[in-house]
Amino acid sequence: MKKIVCNTYEEVCNFGADIFVQQLKKKPDSVLGLATGSTPIDLYSDLVRRAKNGEVDFSKVRTFNLDEYYPIKASHPQSYRAFMEKHLFSKIKVESSNFLNGEASDPHAECAAYDAKVQKAGGIDLQLLGIGVNGHIAFIEPDSSYPLGSYLVELAEETLIANSRFFKEGENQPTSALSMGLSPIFSARHIMMLVTGPNKAPVIKRLFENVIHTDLPASLLHLHPNVTVVVDRAANGE
Ligand code: GLP
Repeated sequence: MKKIVCNTYEEVCNFGADIFVQQLKKKPDSVLGLATGSTPIDLYSDLVRRAKNGEVDFSKVRTFNLDEYYPIKASHPQSYRAFMEKHLFSKIKVESSNFLNGEASDPHAECAAYDAKVQKAGGIDLQLLGIGVNGHIAFIEPDSSYPLGSYLVELAEETLIANSRFFKEGENQPTSALSMGLSPIFSARHIMMLVTGPNKAPVIKRLFENVIHTDLPASLLHLHPNVTVVVDRAANGE
């Protein structure tokens, strides 16, 4: 696991955008794993800007998003599908975008079908990740054991508190989610995690103790051969 330290949030997003552009130069029909949360917002606007000025072309790209609240309507403003539509897919053209369906009647069948789709696509070329304050990746919450495949997960208290800022009063915040599992995430040839802000400094410190903590899902990434963690100075505890 490699750590890159940038000065600011903007630099982190710019660095991340460079990695996406390099990936698409190498393989225009890449399979991209995408993330939500506030961290990648400027990365997405940077990519939109670069697509508009012709620096990069997403038209052959297939995307798979990491997670989705469950249950949630796709049209709900806080669904991750709506988030991606707002920040990326309404602005650039891709070959296909794939999501775990927050309206699926059988969440287990939905997860199994999603994993099969990722596998059929040949796995992920570049996977973007963020990290929760409690060390979750996607919605893989701290636990004593982890399913390999994508799964229905009950959200941790810290996650519900952290994400409550996105929900307006009266908007029902789901307490469960469908999350990509470790297998599809580990299918990625390159994993890039973006982490910014002082509230992530404690989790980054623990992640770089270079120990696999069973209650720190992100620490499992130490077992992957190609992980780049891009942090700003604040998240690096400086
Ligand atoms: C959410 C998402 C994660 C994301 C994390 C951090 O709960 N499920 O994929 O990485 O929270 O979000 P933020 O970037 O807003 O801190």
